[in-house]
Parts: sequence; C-alpha cells; structure tokens
Amino acid sequence: MDADKRRQLRDAFGAFMTGVTVVTTNDRQGNPIGFTANSFSSVSLDPALLLVSIDKRSANFANFTGCDHFAVNILSEQQKETSNIFAQKIEDRFALIDWRKADSGVPLIEESSAWFDCSLHQVVDAGDHAILIGKVEAFSSCGTAGLGYYRGVYFTPYQNAESLIGGPDVVVSALIESAGQALMVEKQGSYSLPSRRVNQSSVSETLNQLFADLEVQASPGFVYSIWEDRQKNQQHIVFLCVQSGASKLNTARQAQWYSLNQLDALPIADSALKSLMNRFVRESAVGNYGLYYGDECQGSVRHFALKAS
Ligand SMILES: Cc1cc2nc3c(=O)[nH]c(=O)nc-3n(C[C@H](O)[C@H](O)[C@H](O)COP(=O)(O)O)c2cc1C
Repeated sequence: MDADKRRQLRDAFGAFMTGVTVVTTNDRQGNPIGFTANSFSSVSLDPALLLVSIDKRSANFANFTGCDHFAVNILSEQQKETSNIFAQKIEDRFALIDWRKADSGVPLIEESSAWFDCSLHQVVDAGDHAILIGKVEAFSSCGTAGLGYYRGVYFTPYQNAESLIGGPDVVVSALIESAGQALMVEKQGSYSLPSRRVNQSSVSETLNQLFADLEVQASPGFVYSIWEDRQKNQQHIVFLCVQSGASKLNTARQAQWYSLNQLDALPIADSALKSLMNRFVRESAVGNYGLYYGDECQGSVRHFALKAS
C-alpha cells in the first residue's frame, strides 16, 4: 500500500472513537515497560478476555509477546500527559508517573480509570501487528471519566461538560444508578435527586461533597440534563453518576435506593424532574441516553451514548 493510501486508511480507522490505555509488563530484567494503545477491546465475559494489538516495530514487541502477565490501564481524563509519555521514545517512562506493582508483579498506573491484570492467553499474528489476548485475573474500576481519542485528538467529555456550566446560581444533582436502582432523597413527602448548590467550589468538588454527604462512593459520568429555571434564575445540571464500590447510605439524609420500576409511583412534585426521571427509566431500558438542554418547560434531548451490552 502506498503512503497516501496508508494515511487515508489510518484516518478512516481514526473515525472510530476510542478510549486510551497504557499496556504494561516487565522486561526480562524485571524493569517496568509499557506503551500507549487505543486498540484495546473487551472480548469475552466468561472466560474474561480482552485484547490489544501491538505494532511489530515496538521496541518491546518480544517482551510483550513473550510475557506471562501484562496489564491494561484505562487512562482517565486527567492522564493525557501519561498517554503522551508512553507514546514517545522516552528512556524511563515510569520515572515520570506514579505507579505501583500488582500482586502478580505487573506495573499498574495510579489514578487510572480502570485496570486489568491479565495472564497472556494467546498471541495472534496479524499483519504488521500481533494481537495480545489477555485472560483477566484481577481488575478494578474506580468510575472516573475515561480519556477519549478521536481522529488523532484527545477528548474529555466530562471536563467539556464542566466548561458549559456557568451562571449566577448553579445547582448540581446526581442521578446515581446502581443495579437497576436510583438514589432518591425524600423531603416533606416529595422525592428529588440528591442536589447541592455550587458556591465557591467547582462543579466536581460540589459533586464530591454531595457523595460524601450521602456516604456513597460514586463518580460523575456524563451530563444528563441542563436546564435554566427562569423563575428562580437557577441553572440545574444533572450528572449521570457511576457507583464505585459498596456504599453505606446515610439514612439520616433519607437517601434511599429505589428500583427503576418503582420510580413511576414515587411522588415527585417538580414536573421537570418528573419528566427527567421518566426519560431515564425509558432510556436505561435500552441503554441509549440523551442530553436534555433547555429550560424548565421545554428543551430538546440529544442522544449520545449506548450502554455496552
Ligand atoms: C492514542 C495512541 C494510541 C496508540 N495505540 C497503539 C496501539 O494500539 N498499538 C501500538 O502498538 N501502538 C500504539 N500507539 C503507538 C505507541 O504508543 C508508540 O509507538 C510507542 O512509542 C511505542 O513504544 P515502544 O516502541 O517503546 O513500545 C498509540 C499511540 C497513541 C498516541
């Protein structure tokens, strides 16, 4: 294939939006090694398998294709620099980042969104790459938003959403779903989402304070709804949040999990919230979530994400 065609093909492949990972292992001397990869894909749940492809020109090709264990670290939005470090020819990439060793000995990158510690299950020869298929032996996911990559550029959906937010009086709410249940707060016989005013702090700090108040371990995902309440001169932002780890609920705050099919029967006085919750129940059934943008009476919904099966 000539150089032009090759570039066109690379650009066409780049139309597929991905996350960014750093794949790590140890070399024969026990030194940590790793490279940035967006060719990661989940493969199978049972057995738990994943794959990543490695270029045959990689300096560490023999180390990766001959290793016992490797790890895939899914980078978070804050880790663009880590991605760049592991994509450039740098002598000691690990000297520039925080990392630790997993029980198996493979290097894990601190603050990543998720990691998978794998035994090397199979190496498949594939043109100018080899496909490393890993059997997941241990994994963890902390729920922080993952770094995106699209047409050669990083993108950060959560940070972008934060930058949309501004106004005199901002209220953030957390729509936390876990195992088909949503966390609701009761006040004087009416239900609402856990919410907090953004005062001096940033939106993410406010959400973290909200999670701490509720004693729930969660992290913000996508913005689910933004609306202006013109009467109260308030901007409302609802974040779809991911629960991470087992949580102990603070019952004093009357936050309680309700199954999604119970939500319809819950008294929700705020009509904007009522229609948001109805939309959420409908959308989570098919895993196709939309972003609402408007005011308390009217607006439009844009669909942006499909839940993985
Ligand atoms: C976003 C991004 C994704 C990448 N994905 C892959 C990949 O999937 N497989 C691969 O072999 N290289 C990939 N690379 C390139 C390697 O990270 C890069 O060539 C690195 O320098 C290889 O290091 P090494 O030769 O020390 O192994 C990617 C680079 C970037 C920036």
